[in-house]
Amino acid sequence: MKYKIVLLPGDGIGPEVTDAAVKVLQFVAEKIGLELSFSYHLMGGCSYDANETPLTDATLNACYDSDAVFLGAVGGVKWESLPHHLKPEAALLKIRKSLGLFSNIRPAKVYNALIDASSLRPEVLSGTDLVIFRELTGGIYFGEPRGYDEHKGWNTLVYSTEEVERIARKAFAVARQRSGRVTSVDKANVLESSQFWRKIVHQVHEEFRDVKLNDMYVDNAAMQLVRNPKQFDVILTQNLFGDILSDVAAMITGSLGMLPSASLGEKYALYEPVHGSAPDIAGQNKANPLASIASIALMFSYTFNLPEIGLSIEDAIAKTLEKNFRTADIFSEGMTLVSTTVMRDEVLKSLEEVFEKNKITVTS
Ligand code: NAD
Ligand code: IPM
Ligand code: MN
Repeated sequence: MKYKIVLLPGDGIGPEVTDAAVKVLQFVAEKIGLELSFSYHLMGGCSYDANETPLTDATLNACYDSDAVFLGAVGGVKWESLPHHLKPEAALLKIRKSLGLFSNIRPAKVYNALIDASSLRPEVLSGTDLVIFRELTGGIYFGEPRGYDEHKGWNTLVYSTEEVERIARKAFAVARQRSGRVTSVDKANVLESSQFWRKIVHQVHEEFRDVKLNDMYVDNAAMQLVRNPKQFDVILTQNLFGDILSDVAAMITGSLGMLPSASLGEKYALYEPVHGSAPDIAGQNKANPLASIASIALMFSYTFNLPEIGLSIEDAIAKTLEKNFRTADIFSEGMTLVSTTVMRDEVLKSLEEVFEKNKITVTS
């Protein structure tokens, strides 16, 4: 079987981190005899510059014809004042919605070698391993009516039964294979939409009685994430809260440059680092490629159904960090400061070692 991979490098550091991801993907695919075909497409600000739209039908159709999409990052100051529907970010939202990618999985775990890179204390962090299930195709990101005029701006936060049920089921099912705990994060003390969310989550919980469920208000959850992140296993939440909480959770790992994500639906899958286009460091070969490489690990687990290969990629990331290689965002004294491309090459070397050790060879 040959998998079709669509690559959307995007803007800013997007192309730099995509390069690293693709090199890792190619290396591993060759190693295990996985057949892949790649096609690159413009999306985001670069597409607007070339085509006057951030997402062409050709790019979207390529995604419809894919087994997996990898996205670097989109956006930047240059496109900030465009009308909403022409912004780079609108393209990303349209892809997520069009492909039905309702389940956004954002794992945050601590690599021991990075325990000093975070602004949080090591004893608070050690052993943290949580995953955020963010609803990705509903909520205030997509609700109608929306708009602004001279005097006011408005958005609509709405969730249907089906939208809450399907993401809740995913979160409970995964919790079952982990520590068996789900924290559903809402704002049910203020928002009717959250009261509804809570009711449906509890209904779905009836199907998963062996999993422990607790509810938490989002303001408290943000605080608890930095106070005692170990208390969390699976966090289940709506689109906007998941966006914010995942950037908070990034500091558990030491940097936004470490956090990967998988966005899954019934038919399609998209993998992307959680971070943005980082205009402040774009084009300088400084970006941390590990979030992108870890997103490729998720692609092996979810799209290729080879979780053991996904784990090997994570092992290679850990090994590279244990060899003290650090990009600027995770650098601390005594470590070796490296560029994006050197970090990429060091991960490739570590991968070779991990594969050697695990005796992974051609399987198909
Ligand atoms: P950002 O994530 O781009 O950057 C925030 C901070 O983190 C910056 O200081 C940046 O240098 C640093 N950072 C991010 N990724 C890094 C990496 N891999 N290595 C090292 N440092 C890294 O967020 P922002 O500055 O708020 O947004 C910039 C643009 O990116 C905006 O246009 C925004 O809309 C867009 N954005 C896109 C995505 C996406 O494409 N998925 C996600 C978030 C933001
Ligand atoms: C993310 C990003 C996006 C979001 C933006 C760029 C549309 O911040 O993936 O976390 O808000 O979902
Ligand atoms: Mn975000």
